[in-house]
Amino acid sequence: MHEPAHSWRRTLDAVADAVAPHRGSGRVADYIPALANVDPQFFGMALTCHDGDDAWVEDAEVAFSIQSISKIFTLTLALRECGDDLWRGVWREPSGTPFNSIVQLESDKGVPRNPFINAGALVVTDRLITCFGKDQVIGVLVEFLARRADVDIRVDEVVAQSERETSHRNLGLAHVMKGFGNLQNAVDDVVDVYCRQCAIAMTCRDLARSALYLSAEGRDPIDDEAIVSPLIARRINALMLTCGHYDAAGDFAFRIGLPGKSGVGGGILALVPRQLALAVWSPGLNENGNSLVGTLALEAFVRESGLAIL
Ligand code: DON
Repeated sequence: MHEPAHSWRRTLDAVADAVAPHRGSGRVADYIPALANVDPQFFGMALTCHDGDDAWVEDAEVAFSIQSISKIFTLTLALRECGDDLWRGVWREPSGTPFNSIVQLESDKGVPRNPFINAGALVVTDRLITCFGKDQVIGVLVEFLARRADVDIRVDEVVAQSERETSHRNLGLAHVMKGFGNLQNAVDDVVDVYCRQCAIAMTCRDLARSALYLSAEGRDPIDDEAIVSPLIARRINALMLTCGHYDAAGDFAFRIGLPGKSGVGGGILALVPRQLALAVWSPGLNENGNSLVGTLALEAFVRESGLAIL
């Protein structure tokens, strides 16, 4: 057997070496009590290429709470199943504010700036409840992810319960939107489903595999299956680039130059259009609520691989 011309494993090993001195830095999210107990030393990274080649390092097979990364998959399902009507209830502009901010919602008359801030993601979940029913949405989402990654996917009920009990800000956002007539379903149902989607546990390997269609114009290149139209895929990529990191979206584009979506569990999903999807996980967060070491790792990845769209 001869060595492949390009070794992704070598690239990821170089990334892991580059971030090793920083492992454990950042602050683990503690506003959701069940997340506060996660060991900040975890670090994993995985990628899946269109030709089926894949590679991973360190803790890439340990499941973690995907949190806001779930928003790219609910947006996928909402645009695919519920159509363009979604855009009546949510804009597609960067907010420049933290993910859970309420400040713009009053002056914007209950219409969130984009589908990735919490308010916008609650609207997306609300529309999914209208389409599928409140008891079906999580099943549809979990089945979608399980089929993409070809593994069992589960909701971590301890995290979901912990988040529900401390969801005061999300309930506040949802009530403001309900007051403006921008939620079609009961506030408690919307927040309940939202907390459960955020509490889905996945590994870096499974996340990279699941999101591959977004780097491939909406078609899973390995299964050769159309997931969404090229137009929907392009729009989700655009939103990831401009809004995927909230008030740090500009800095993420500046430093990494790839569409990405973070979660307060410490995961980041990034796309190299027409080539691969990659996921990184390290639980310590920076002041914007995005993985500190994960961001450093993605910076090292684009440096090592020379891949970036910008
Ligand atoms: O609603 C929340 O606050 C969390 N379930 C998700 C926030 C999140 O992941 C923001 N991302 N960096």
